[in-house]
Amino acid sequence: MCGICAYQGPETKAVEIVIEALKRLEYRGYDSWGIAYKPAHLDQNKPQEIEIYKEVGKIGDFKSSYDQFGKSSFAIGHSRWATHGGVTKRNAHPHISENKEIVLVHNGIFENYLNFKKYLEKKAHTFKTETDTEVIAHLIEEHYKTHSFEDSVKLAVKEIEGRYAILVINNKDNTMIAARKGSPLIIGVGKSKGEYFIASDIPAFLPYTNKVVYLDDNQMVIVENQKIRFFDNSTQQAIEKRIIEIDWDIESAEKGDFDHFMLKEIMEQKDTLSRSINQDPITINKVARAIENAHGTYLVGCGTAGKVCMVAEYLFAKIAHKHINFSFGSEFPYHQQFINNKTLLIAVSQSGETADTLEALEVAQKKGAKIISIVNVEGSTMARMSDIVIPIKAGPEKAVASTKATTSQLAILTMLAYACDGGVEKGKQLLIATAGQINDMLNPRYENHIRKLARKIRKIESMYIIGRGANFPMALEAAIKLQEVSYIHAEGFAGGELKHGPIALISEGTPVIALVPNDETTKEIISNATEIKARGGYIIGVSSENHPVFDYWIRVPDTGATSPIINIIPIQILAYQLAVLRKNNPDMPRNLAKSVTVK
Ligand code: AGP
Ligand code: GLU
Repeated sequence: MCGICAYQGPETKAVEIVIEALKRLEYRGYDSWGIAYKPAHLDQNKPQEIEIYKEVGKIGDFKSSYDQFGKSSFAIGHSRWATHGGVTKRNAHPHISENKEIVLVHNGIFENYLNFKKYLEKKAHTFKTETDTEVIAHLIEEHYKTHSFEDSVKLAVKEIEGRYAILVINNKDNTMIAARKGSPLIIGVGKSKGEYFIASDIPAFLPYTNKVVYLDDNQMVIVENQKIRFFDNSTQQAIEKRIIEIDWDIESAEKGDFDHFMLKEIMEQKDTLSRSINQDPITINKVARAIENAHGTYLVGCGTAGKVCMVAEYLFAKIAHKHINFSFGSEFPYHQQFINNKTLLIAVSQSGETADTLEALEVAQKKGAKIISIVNVEGSTMARMSDIVIPIKAGPEKAVASTKATTSQLAILTMLAYACDGGVEKGKQLLIATAGQINDMLNPRYENHIRKLARKIRKIESMYIIGRGANFPMALEAAIKLQEVSYIHAEGFAGGELKHGPIALISEGTPVIALVPNDETTKEIISNATEIKARGGYIIGVSSENHPVFDYWIRVPDTGATSPIINIIPIQILAYQLAVLRKNNPDMPRNLAKSVTVK
């Protein structure tokens, strides 16, 4: 994720408007930021040069006076979440073309940028950054040699593979064009004539206007001569768009089009996995070496993060043939007799502030163990206590129920398991493919199919989830999700365990979710589901293939070793739908807090 904002209009404080707007998009996360603006010269005959200002760090930390920028009525800004190229001033957006006429900010990944970079280098373009984004600016410039500015942008967006939002200005005539595919862009129509905002989310400009136009995928907006026009890139037709008046407060506006943060965060998994795996390979290999060299490695986490650690135990065994121990944070002190200065402790946490996990870190630290943390909140206590930090880069997670942070943690641990086997790139490729499958899976039809199931089972009192291997801890995690927001009694079991006792709980119509990946567990988990069905259980199969034992089938793609990531997503949706149908607030479930800072 990143934040984009642009302003054009009669106000002469465009820079302030844009910087303050980016601050309101803070929840989208960032590592650096930048703006481009045109100073309003008193001397009309003097050509207006574009000015660029960039900083590394949080935009929220920018407290300086806006006077330094002078007056301006035209500005664009971007808070970056680096995917290509380090977090440096130079790599921060906006990026500018060779002749300095095209200035651009971008959200997403230009997947095929290297092909174009080579092509443009042959045409004497020189690149000053390591970003994929800069290539888009040069590509537009190259087309601009033989086409109009608008057609050049249209040609470039056709060439970009991947999901993006771009906002580009032509410095010559102040035309501003924004285009999207997969990343949000909303236009704010200001109160004065010719006043327009373009941003990644509504809170950016909410203090100025509540009149908005939502840009859809493959659509483009052109702001020129104080007017806006829309164009559909797939049909190549000009289109009309409706201005909608919204009635939002800032807090709910942050949820964008979504009713709840939980749903928004579930849907963000279209993006978050790709971001998470975009790690510095040096760090990943360093951690893999630390695991190799340690005399015992412990994975520690609580609640959902704990279940993630349990999955990792299986992944390390299967992928890297490596035995790794797991302990819940609260249980770790009871293992301390095994901890010494050769032990490695890997803490997994969204907040980095969970008291039970922090206590484990303190115990390990006292014994001289090396500490690595996999956390979402980068400045957190856990991160600060660690020798090495792997940021999961899932972006702020506001709903109490962890969703996108969970799958990102799983992705990083999967990549680490592959790194321990010497194949970090293999792991990364698998995860890139998985991210693509998640993107295809999360569509309204899929949501509807799960909502149908939620309606069917909304009144039940208990339900169970079974899985084997790495999907056993995911059955436990599925139970947490359902408990937390639907308040239905839900329990997860290892598929083979039911017959040793819990099967006595099954009666006519008891819903049982079976996680059925296409792997060494398939046959056995189907047998376990069949045993339950024979006792009247209603079997909900989460699987890439339908099976006669399923009463309700939720299709998931077959992604191989990443099945724990894929299988939990429909359960997250189910838990959310059940919460809504049962009139619970999924974002703030009773008795819970996002960050559990007590023991
Ligand atoms: C997840 O849905 C829960 N809210 C909870 O189990 C959570 O995962 C746990 O409290 C650990 O939090 P952390 O990841 O911030 O350490
Ligand atoms: N891929 C671009 C970069 O790394 C954009 C990242 C973003 O969405 O902030 O600069």
